[in-house]
Amino acid sequence: MTEEYKVECIKCGARFSKEDVVYTCRKCGGLLDIKYDYSEIDVKRVVKAKGEGVWKYRVLLPFAEETKPVTINEGNTPLYRCDRLAKSGGVDDLWVKHEGLNPSGSFKDRGMTVGVTKAVELDVKGVACASTGNTSASLAIFAAKAGIPCYVMLPKGKVALGKVAQAMMHGAKVFSLRGNFDDALRIVRVLCEEEKLYLLNSVNPYRLEGQKTIAFEVAEKLGWKAPDRVILPVGNAGNISAIFKGFLELKTLGITDSIPKMTGIQAAGARPIVNAFEDGKAEITPEDKPETIASAIRIGNPVNAAKALFAIRDSDGVAESVTDDEITESQLELARLEGIGVEPASAASIAGLKKLVTLGEIDRDEKIVCITTGHLLKDPERVIKICEAPKEVDADVDVVRKMMKGHGLKM
Ligand code: F0G
Repeated sequence: MTEEYKVECIKCGARFSKEDVVYTCRKCGGLLDIKYDYSEIDVKRVVKAKGEGVWKYRVLLPFAEETKPVTINEGNTPLYRCDRLAKSGGVDDLWVKHEGLNPSGSFKDRGMTVGVTKAVELDVKGVACASTGNTSASLAIFAAKAGIPCYVMLPKGKVALGKVAQAMMHGAKVFSLRGNFDDALRIVRVLCEEEKLYLLNSVNPYRLEGQKTIAFEVAEKLGWKAPDRVILPVGNAGNISAIFKGFLELKTLGITDSIPKMTGIQAAGARPIVNAFEDGKAEITPEDKPETIASAIRIGNPVNAAKALFAIRDSDGVAESVTDDEITESQLELARLEGIGVEPASAASIAGLKKLVTLGEIDRDEKIVCITTGHLLKDPERVIKICEAPKEVDADVDVVRKMMKGHGLKM
């Protein structure tokens, strides 16, 4: 682990100490980043590291050697080569990293293992977050593991069933706010500041340190090479910023020699980053009423927009949006062509791939990695809505056989 690091504002360069509980710059309000002295990092300890998952890359995480992580074996998710999906999408070399196979069913576990380990180090009295669902589920689990009180703020009626169930089951105090995610985040930020709770939304730079390990795992699996492009859904815009940082670190350390084109996909009804990207702006205009079936990314005012826009532009990537119908079509295709079950937000990455190929933005021969961020079982109600209903039938062999014949059974 690397005890020597700085917490630095990306806008004005102001620095804060490791003991400071700070989420955005106290001088200018800018986002914060964890900075290491890369000349001090032993590259062999990155490429020859033993173990699995997030803590395998501990040499690039901000902790002292003796720190004991709060962990439930997060990370080490599969990277599947997807030839059937590639054919359907019009590309030759397509891979899917299924982050839905983390312990809680989403990539958030990577950020939470680091964030909650930091919370223990700071000896906080409790942790809190606003969430479209997955963040709250993951935080509830890690808080339970660490024995820390956990408070989560969810937009009422807007969170998929599986995610709420997780937060409740693991003992978080769940608040259902009459408002949207952006309202919930605004409120929890004030409460964390005033009540001295530790905020574990992705504005917390320690979260992103854990999530950057997605880049390390992808590069390692590809023989310590970066793919040409990484495509992922964008909501609060933390993950795209984190993965970009991971690839940047590998290049800075001389482990890889390129950065993938970071390609962020939003839903057509919640696309503030796409708008800013298309308008050439450095800042977003928040959307008051974000709407999409992909509830995880139903966000109108993404807190990490500045980092994400930099990541997309600096890597020569692109931001694009997809419709709810395109998301549903890709969700079904992933499930049926590749056996990968994801929630709607995750399918946005595949829908985005297809759209960008059609627009001529993506070349056929690129090596592409799509990140699927959350598991199918997170949102069971939606699955029931988009699939053919089970066929009710009498418990009789001949009656069942007859019905099966009517549904394609060949004799
Ligand atoms: N995919 C899923 C399944 C998510 O849950 C989220 C974010 C994203 C993509 C977008 O990631 O915010 O880093 O750009 N979910 C958050 C939550 C907002 O509260 O669970 P991002």
